[in-house]
Amino acid sequence: MKNLFSENNISKIGLGTWQMGMKGWGSDYEDSTVIDALVYGINNGINFIDTAEIYGNGKSEKLIGNALEQIDRKRVYVATKIAGFNATEKKVKKSINGSLKRMKIDYIDLYQVHWEPSIYTNMENLFKELENSIKEGLINHIGVSNFSLKNLEIANSYLKDYKIESNQIKFNLVERPSKEIIEYMNKNNIKLIAWSPLAQGFLTGKYGPGNMPKGFIRKVNKLFKEKNFKRYENLFKILRELSMKKNASITQIVLSYESSLGVLPIPGFKNKNQVKEIVDSIKIEISEDELKEITDVINELGTIKSNEEMFPRTLPNFLVKIISIFI
Ligand SMILES: NC(=O)c1ccc[n+]([C@@H]2O[C@H](COP(=O)([O-])OP(=O)(O)OC[C@H]3O[C@@H](n4cnc5c(N)ncnc54)[C@H](OP(=O)(O)O)[C@@H]3O)[C@@H](O)[C@H]2O)c1
Repeated sequence: MKNLFSENNISKIGLGTWQMGMKGWGSDYEDSTVIDALVYGINNGINFIDTAEIYGNGKSEKLIGNALEQIDRKRVYVATKIAGFNATEKKVKKSINGSLKRMKIDYIDLYQVHWEPSIYTNMENLFKELENSIKEGLINHIGVSNFSLKNLEIANSYLKDYKIESNQIKFNLVERPSKEIIEYMNKNNIKLIAWSPLAQGFLTGKYGPGNMPKGFIRKVNKLFKEKNFKRYENLFKILRELSMKKNASITQIVLSYESSLGVLPIPGFKNKNQVKEIVDSIKIEISEDELKEITDVINELGTIKSNEEMFPRTLPNFLVKIISIFI
């Protein structure tokens, strides 16, 4: 099997679908609106979509299934994730089959382990079972998400006939994983799929100290604090200037900058206008000087370290399952 990212023509930007399953993002959108928006994105140049069995307890996958019925499924690379608490040798097949059924498809392009399984999980058997699932034609490629460098190395060492092809991590202009993990991933041809590429809307320019987003997900996000809008004031200034100069939105400059770094941003969305802006950002070229200007200000202001560990690995699966009903 060809490497998913280096040997296929995947769009520079994908679409994330956490919002499709979760009202924790606010109540300003409907199921039919997000389905239409996703179909619009796929029909207009985006061919990579990311979801997870856990988003809205399967709702995101179900809505994707409705969208996929309206297009030729083969045109799209579908990536989903097995929840860390299900990521055991015994439960893998059940999770894969559940995702296939909800999305009404017969194979998954990229199957990702959503977060590092608990320390009570036999990771070797888990990854062997994922290899078996490829051989059975249920999934085509294996990826992980929120994996530390150490566990990425361990997981890779358990695979015999295939490789880990991606690690999905929080990555945007102000929140970054360690340099070491990025270097390891580059060296080992592991694609960085950037989650929260817009820092959950912080980087779109539409929010500020007097105008914070609604919904509990961003209420608990520590980034949405007055001090952080102040800290990144100079970054916003440069983004605003570039946006005027290039006749593009701040969101588009951010996504275009990130994809020029070689990562695959998967912004979440709520409506067709947002997807249109995302799609159109693929065409925006950022010059070397402009890239440098953004990079310099980020270096000067510093970034916040993305925490790789989503749940403490010492927590038993049943407890993580209870906590994660909010995802
Ligand atoms: N692997 C993991 O553990 C993990 C964790 C989180 C997310 N993810 C994946 O990554 C995807 C994206 O990350 P995210 O959802 O955290 O956040 P994000 O993509 O950084 O931000 C999404 C928000 O950005 C705003 N937005 C999108 N397009 C816009 C546009 N054109 N103009 C203005 N605002 C726009 C919307 O905000 P408003 O709501 O304010 O309109 C949207 O809800 C998710 O959907 C999911 O697939 C993975």
